Amino acid sequence: MAEKTTIIPIASGKGGVGKSFLTANLSIAIAKLGYSTAVVDLDLGGSNLYTYLGIPNKYPGIGDYLKGKKVRFSDLLVRTKTSNLKYIPGDGRTPFMADIPYAQRQILLEELKRIPARYVLLDLGSGSTFNTLNFYGIAHKGIIVTTSEVPSIMNSLAFLRNFMFYIILKAVSHNKEALKMLTTAFRQPIKSEPLRVKSLLHKISDVDRNLAIKAHDLCRNYRPRIIINMGDSFDELKVLRKIDEVLKTRLSIEADYFGFIYYDDVVRRSVQNSNILFSHYPQCLASKSIKHIARRITRIWDQPVENSMVRLFEDTKRKHALWKTY
Ligand SMILES: Nc1ncnc2c1ncn2[C@@H]1O[C@H](COP(=O)(O)OP(=O)(O)O)[C@@H](O)[C@H]1O
Ligand SMILES: [Mg+2]
Repeated sequence: MAEKTTIIPIASGKGGVGKSFLTANLSIAIAKLGYSTAVVDLDLGGSNLYTYLGIPNKYPGIGDYLKGKKVRFSDLLVRTKTSNLKYIPGDGRTPFMADIPYAQRQILLEELKRIPARYVLLDLGSGSTFNTLNFYGIAHKGIIVTTSEVPSIMNSLAFLRNFMFYIILKAVSHNKEALKMLTTAFRQPIKSEPLRVKSLLHKISDVDRNLAIKAHDLCRNYRPRIIINMGDSFDELKVLRKIDEVLKTRLSIEADYFGFIYYDDVVRRSVQNSNILFSHYPQCLASKSIKHIARRITRIWDQPVENSMVRLFEDTKRKHALWKTY
């Protein structure tokens, strides 16, 4: 029987929060736990995953595949320095790849689902382009990376709002009346109350009740997993209460709070010296945090994490005492 594949898209509302750094090192950590893993650079237009993997930018990537340069998708897989880990480059040196037409995106999504590996991690571009929203929706559980700073959190919430509205839009796209109603609702004036998923579903229900039920069921399937990066202390996790409230009340989202990664000077040093953090500095704070997340992924990814906010807080507090030396 073919091996089950778990696809994990990794997104963020804001650039520079550590998405590519995390995607690369998390893939290495999962591969080192003994699982066949593939990591894909889907930040088309800004591909730089290779720098974190310590690989030269000389292989054909998704850009070449989409431009029809006689490259088969399966030929894109490149070996890395970690056994068990393969890598698919992004735009390589192909310019203007940030916007892929819808039909090509669908072909690409099907190819991504066929990658022969136990875990497939996708490094996505920052922000809410249709490309990114579409790739993020490839799985019901995707990671959102944020720092604990307000701009990063606001952008994460904006990303998830756009994602939910995108799912709803897709669900009703064949119903002209519902589509028109949604388009008008999305153009609301700045002074009005923020749009809520619930109120959109009510409006759809006024047009077609069954369609609203279908859209609601689709929305309920998504359970994002939030990872705080570049943290300093477990205290910062208190911000999760506010995030959770907004997600629940405005977006009807149940999120799992999945990990906390320390800010670590070693990260920059390793990138500057083209060293792979996880391989060269396995004992540094950032590597330890990432290894912990890798273990959790391989153990509990498929299930909802009950009480995840409190658990993450307690767990990080315990690890803080163990890992941080003063
Ligand atoms: N935990 C961390 N500690 C220190 N520096 C980090 C950490 N995570 C990421 N960085 C640094 O932050 C910068 C942005 O990271 P990157 O992964 O490229 O962001 P993104 O892909 O989200 O745009 C890089 O210079 C990276 O080395
Ligand atoms: Mg990046």
